Amino acid sequence: MSNDITFSIIKPDALGRGDAGRILARITDTGFRIAALRMLHMTLRQAEGFYAVHRERPFYQGLVEFMSSGPVIVMVLRHPDAVEEFRRFIGTTDPAKAGPGTIRAEFGTDVRMNAVHGSDSPENALLEASYFFSAIDIF
Ligand code: RTP
Ligand code: MG
Repeated sequence: MSNDITFSIIKPDALGRGDAGRILARITDTGFRIAALRMLHMTLRQAEGFYAVHRERPFYQGLVEFMSSGPVIVMVLRHPDAVEEFRRFIGTTDPAKAGPGTIRAEFGTDVRMNAVHGSDSPENALLEASYFFSAIDIF
């Protein structure tokens, strides 16, 4: 499978603080190309659908409430080895443990409000992208 696409979300915490522009600039300055982008406010049901894989996890309810608490920016990004490179760029889930210079270290607040999402596999990148975008929307 082609590995040049990942899917990302700028989460409600980062958008609410007015950090979206700075995060987008960091993403494109690092060489990721924006292939699709949209702003929306997910309903609780839509967030539950997106995170269905985490249904059994203890943090699921808090996660879906957080992700539907305000607008987000969803996007498809292109880069060689996009999934791996983007996850390296954003840092680990917990911003307190994320490496210096990573997006989550800089813009995240805690293990839930960690500013950005990045797909964890090429398969999930395609699935997640198709939750928000049609093929015709992805450049
Ligand atoms: P993401 O999917 O957002 O890129 O984050 P990730 O792979 O680093 O982490 P994952 O395990 O997939 O968790 C998804 C999101 O759930 C929230 N979370 N809260 N202990 C907690 O309260 C907890 N653990 C995870 C975070 O927003 C995390 O990004
Ligand atoms: Mg994940």
